[in-house]
Amino acid sequence: MAFPNTDPTQTNSWKKLQEHFNTVKNVQMKTMFAEDPERANKFTIKWDDFYLDFSKNRITEETFKLLLELANDVKLKEAINSQFSGEIINKTEGRAVLHTALRAPKDADFKINGVNVMPEIYAVKEKIESFTTEVVTGSKKGYTGKAFTDVVNIGIGGSDLGPAMVVDTLQYYKNHLNTHFVSNVDGDHVNEVIKKLNPETTLFVIVSKTFTTQETLSNANTLKTWFLNSAPENAIAKHFVAVSTNIENVKTFGIDANNVFPMWDWVGGRFSLWSAVGLTISLAIGYDNFNSLLKGANKMDVHFKNEDLNRNIPVVLALISTWYNNFFGAESEAVIPYSQYLNQFATYLQQAIMESNGKSVDRNGNPVSYQTGAVIWGEPGTNSQHAFFQLIHQGTKLIPADFIGFGKSLHGNQDHQDKLTSNFLAQTEALLNGKTKAEVVAEGTKESVVPFKVFPGNKPTNTLYINKLTPESLGKLIAMYEHKIFVQGVIWNIFSYDQFGVELGKQLASKILQEFDGNDNAKHDASTTNLLQHYKNLRTTK
Ligand code: F6P
Repeated sequence: MAFPNTDPTQTNSWKKLQEHFNTVKNVQMKTMFAEDPERANKFTIKWDDFYLDFSKNRITEETFKLLLELANDVKLKEAINSQFSGEIINKTEGRAVLHTALRAPKDADFKINGVNVMPEIYAVKEKIESFTTEVVTGSKKGYTGKAFTDVVNIGIGGSDLGPAMVVDTLQYYKNHLNTHFVSNVDGDHVNEVIKKLNPETTLFVIVSKTFTTQETLSNANTLKTWFLNSAPENAIAKHFVAVSTNIENVKTFGIDANNVFPMWDWVGGRFSLWSAVGLTISLAIGYDNFNSLLKGANKMDVHFKNEDLNRNIPVVLALISTWYNNFFGAESEAVIPYSQYLNQFATYLQQAIMESNGKSVDRNGNPVSYQTGAVIWGEPGTNSQHAFFQLIHQGTKLIPADFIGFGKSLHGNQDHQDKLTSNFLAQTEALLNGKTKAEVVAEGTKESVVPFKVFPGNKPTNTLYINKLTPESLGKLIAMYEHKIFVQGVIWNIFSYDQFGVELGKQLASKILQEFDGNDNAKHDASTTNLLQHYKNLRTTK
């Protein structure tokens, strides 16, 4: 089986979509709703505890049909099978992409080069489980015989954002352990965390797939030095564990081989929270909850792999997003969760989506002639209503938005939940219908102000309603976006699983770092030369 390699713009469906776009680009959604009482039902998918209403989009039945044709033309089903069968689809790095295996049942069959990876996955899961139990119950102790109270996750990018987002989102399910995340090489970050720690009762989890990342190693070394100010050298074995593929570098850092949780090169950093990279999640919410998160993701994997494309949630979301991105020219997409718990969700998605699909070279090595990954941003409602919603409602830009809500409040505060939900529903209704001049006038508005109070409407949204925020439903939600990323990568014919775009800045930073202490032979542009000199001056002043 070969991973498909199709220029989407050369497909029949793409050409038909271009023509079709001209006929529908000005159609008003509210007219389509008025003309078809079944529209909402036709464009709704109910699956498990998910309810996806995608009817408030600028699509007709014909649009949907053509988008599904596009999925077939780029051989999406074959691509999905290639991914799940462990094919080397991350060709530029020569790797398979099997984060789905991490959440599969023990008897699943995921092979790399003919070898089933499930036994190694489950060996690591067992290690995570027993380690979690020991730390949470307090049977594992620090160097002075006290139980652990605090866990510090040291990592960046995929080794930070996923675990940090999940721990924050599932804080309702958390145990007594205090969790901290140190990521930025900005020393003020690590120092603020240190202020909260007691070396006798703190466990450090160093997470780095490569174990070469400047930020993570700098923070790990700073924390080790701080720890050794009061603890003896042999206490490191009790207080420091690592998650990595690079066992040699971990040992050089001074971590005992027994304290290493392995991961694999067939798991991309931004898709790795399901592996031992999620150790801090397991510590924070307990292994059973961590496992429920994985089970939820697996349910979404099964849905994605087996469901027909027209009822397949990640596929439908990817197709609609492509419609705006490539035909309407939308530059960005907003993700608005109506849950304060999902405060970090958009930040997490920014790496997952933009590091994956922010590419401009196709799978043949040629520059693409079309748009790829959108800019992703968002904040929870209702806070965001009082911040950037003005621009979504009345600005000049088209910003498709995913509204994500939960039916139940975890603390059972029905009064707040009703108010939250009324906002959740009202915003997508307002974005759909807008407000006409006649309606504004009918409200008795002063004539000179009327134009400013008109809302154009016709702003597209998806509404994803989930019964309740649980580890399992969060697992489904994250996996849903992971698969959306995959589908769009297939459509755009790009490699979604490498990230060479982050390298150049890293290389230049390491050169510039050497120049601070005198080695300033490097040539820079005039702006950078001035800024460097400015910093050197500041560095030497008190
Ligand atoms: O930012 C680039 C990147 O390679 C991410 O893809 C990755 O998640 C992050 O750095 C951290 O890498 P590592 O886990 O190897 O420290």
